[in-house]
Amino acid sequence: MKPSTVNTGAEIRRFPDGFQWGVATSSYQIEGAWDEDGKGPSIWDTYAHTPGNIHNDDNGDVANDHYHRHHEDVDLMRDIGATAYRFSVAWPRVFPDGAGAPNRAGIDFYDRLVDALLAAGIEPYATLYHWDLPQTLQDEVGGWQSKDTAKAFADYAGYVSGRLGDRVKHYFTINEFASFVEGGYQGVDVKVGGDEIVHLGAAPGLRLSDSELKQVRHHAVLGHGMAVQAIRAHGPAGTKIGFADNIRVAVPTIDTPDHVAAAERATRARNAGFMTVMLEGRYTDEYLAEAGGRSPVFTDEELGIIAEPLDFVGLNVYKPGWYVEPSDEAPGYRDIPINASHPRMQSSWHLLDPEVLYWAPRLVQNLWNPPSIYITENGCGASDVMAHDGRIYDSDRVMFLRACLGQLQRATSEGVPVHGYFLWSAQDNFEWMDGYGNRFGLVYVDFDTLERTPKLSASWFREAARRNAVV
Ligand code: NOJ
Repeated sequence: MKPSTVNTGAEIRRFPDGFQWGVATSSYQIEGAWDEDGKGPSIWDTYAHTPGNIHNDDNGDVANDHYHRHHEDVDLMRDIGATAYRFSVAWPRVFPDGAGAPNRAGIDFYDRLVDALLAAGIEPYATLYHWDLPQTLQDEVGGWQSKDTAKAFADYAGYVSGRLGDRVKHYFTINEFASFVEGGYQGVDVKVGGDEIVHLGAAPGLRLSDSELKQVRHHAVLGHGMAVQAIRAHGPAGTKIGFADNIRVAVPTIDTPDHVAAAERATRARNAGFMTVMLEGRYTDEYLAEAGGRSPVFTDEELGIIAEPLDFVGLNVYKPGWYVEPSDEAPGYRDIPINASHPRMQSSWHLLDPEVLYWAPRLVQNLWNPPSIYITENGCGASDVMAHDGRIYDSDRVMFLRACLGQLQRATSEGVPVHGYFLWSAQDNFEWMDGYGNRFGLVYVDFDTLERTPKLSASWFREAARRNAVV
């Protein structure tokens, strides 16, 4: 049969030249070697070692053993066509007590990793905080409850950019502010049936009041701003810096100017404690009035630091935050309830709407017009198993990726400045409270043997990256 001469989607749905096709991971979720070569304990080591916190009482002691297998993992990334890799640096590997003398063996690991990536033609993008706070800072100053942690974070960020800056040109300061602040310092109560309520938390597993929580948020964004200043001071000129936040996106139900304006207002309001203040340098009046107007306590100088100019904004986008429609009454939008039959992916929180990959960057551009945007995470958990023929047929992930990338391509074709996409995740790994029971990787990991096998979605990714298009 003659091949079709009709244009294929891949010829039409191309991304701009130079678009990065990346994969992402984080230190605690893959490295293992939790107490090797001088590394100090992190709050996640402590939290996962406490029985009852994690599904199956799993922990990250060994994880994917990436610390010892990073050469194999870099080869796999190269084989699946990744042009960029977003990894995180474990702060307690580099500063075992959070501050003080650096641990040479710790930073040497990232030196070796970066060299291996560059030799494989993969651009390194480093995240400096993906939640594994040194336990000493938790014990001695109360973690992010204290401004001292923000300062220690900046010192650590400056040191890392000084050591890796000749080869690492892109940094994300902090990953997903809301996840570690709300999850770690307040947690959420989820009704699981009948009257039973389960408290879902993250390290360090505290339960603060609303006003205390707002102060923690303030220290987190302050830590981000201080880290930006420290990287600018210690890294080479031209180093590019941003954050990677899980923006809560209000999705309009109808694409008309009044609905889009309502979605913008809602998105700006719901992100007031993190993205809005980092990009505007002020807390909204509504945000300041919450929790009885008692918090956060801050100075104008701190607001200036929090809003240090950035080179790009990183967005972790998995799901719609919620849906809105316009309203004549303040605040100018109304939340819409989500239908019980709305489709979902495997994770309990994962409401499915690929269009969020269009709306997230478009609303961010409309609201704040940053010079550049990256999708720093997108992906889905799935019930992957190895079939009799040794392959892993993750058809739901392929469906999810094709639909999401299609919407992202719609954004770039309309001129939204998205310069790269990082798929979560390069390989199956420790999925926080779900332990090893929820797989997000392009590469399957047998957690008994630690053998790695690329899935069907890895073939999809390779082809999309090769053609720089939705395939
Ligand atoms: C976002 C987090 O940054 C990452 O650590 C996590 O595994 C993925 N979401 C999937 O839940």
